[in-house]
Amino acid sequence: MVAASQNTRSRPVRLEGMVAVITGGAGGMGRDTALLFAREGAAVVVGDVNDAAGHALAGEVAAAGGRLAYVHCDVSTEKDVVDLIATAETRFGKLDTIFNNAGVEQPVTPSTEVSEDLFDRVTSINLKGTFFGCKHALPALLRNGGGTIVNNSSVSAFANVGGNLSYAASKGGIMSMTRVIAIEYAARNIRCNAINPGVIDTDMNRRNKALASDPDAVEQTWRSITPMGRMGTGNEIGEAVLFLASPQSSFVTGIGLVIDGGRIAT
Ligand SMILES: NC(=O)c1ccc[n+]([C@@H]2O[C@H](COP(=O)([O-])OP(=O)(O)OC[C@H]3O[C@@H](n4cnc5c(N)ncnc54)[C@H](O)[C@@H]3O)[C@@H](O)[C@H]2O)c1
Repeated sequence: MVAASQNTRSRPVRLEGMVAVITGGAGGMGRDTALLFAREGAAVVVGDVNDAAGHALAGEVAAAGGRLAYVHCDVSTEKDVVDLIATAETRFGKLDTIFNNAGVEQPVTPSTEVSEDLFDRVTSINLKGTFFGCKHALPALLRNGGGTIVNNSSVSAFANVGGNLSYAASKGGIMSMTRVIAIEYAARNIRCNAINPGVIDTDMNRRNKALASDPDAVEQTWRSITPMGRMGTGNEIGEAVLFLASPQSSFVTGIGLVIDGGRIAT
């Protein structure tokens, strides 16, 4: 990252003047997206439960001349999400975009063995957390005269290999929620879209792999179900989020943008 003055000398930054909230932005693809947004001139507010990583990220961005505030936020707690969004307005004066990204995996479990606690945990963070993010961002976006919401769904909304019932249910619910909000707010200058990542190289998948009896076989399976033969990167996700968050996608609302190396084309 370079200071804004250096940025403008080399090329125009793509998010100049924008204020973004990113949930789950202290790690994984949320972190890569936060770094990209800050490099592209946005002021970013990151909410996460990993405070050490969040504060370290804020320091890293500040040292590079960017603007990023970290706020402790468990997205399954409504008040935390209210406070997170309020921080964008109090600290940076407005909200232009929110990336509802925070999410957790479900360890592979046969559907009949998914406990109520496991189902509640996964859906509370993934689905209810996205609901809270949309619900409380919308009034701030209206106060701003418009803006964008990007929700992190998954190819699991469409394609699965089994053993991930609560995760797939939460990601399917995010797609439906995205369409409802897109329709409700289309005439009020707010666009709401989702992304559907395939297998991305993050801590979530490193944990998934470590839990398997044969981690190498799991990675081989991921590669074999992906025509491009590799995992995606957090930065590749960040670029797609940037497109949907910014005016570059000004006639796009209510979609799920699949970023999966060709997986669901098969
Ligand atoms: N990794 C993949 O292959 C993949 C594919 C499709 C979709 N996704 C989705 O992308 C999103 C990010 O996944 P990732 O792979 O970067 O995961 P990750 O585990 O690497 O990072 C997730 C981040 O979210 C934070 N987080 C967890 N629970 C939280 C909570 N309750 N409140 C706030 N923050 C919380 C974590 O601390 C971490 O910083 C998730 O919604 C995930 O379901 C991931």
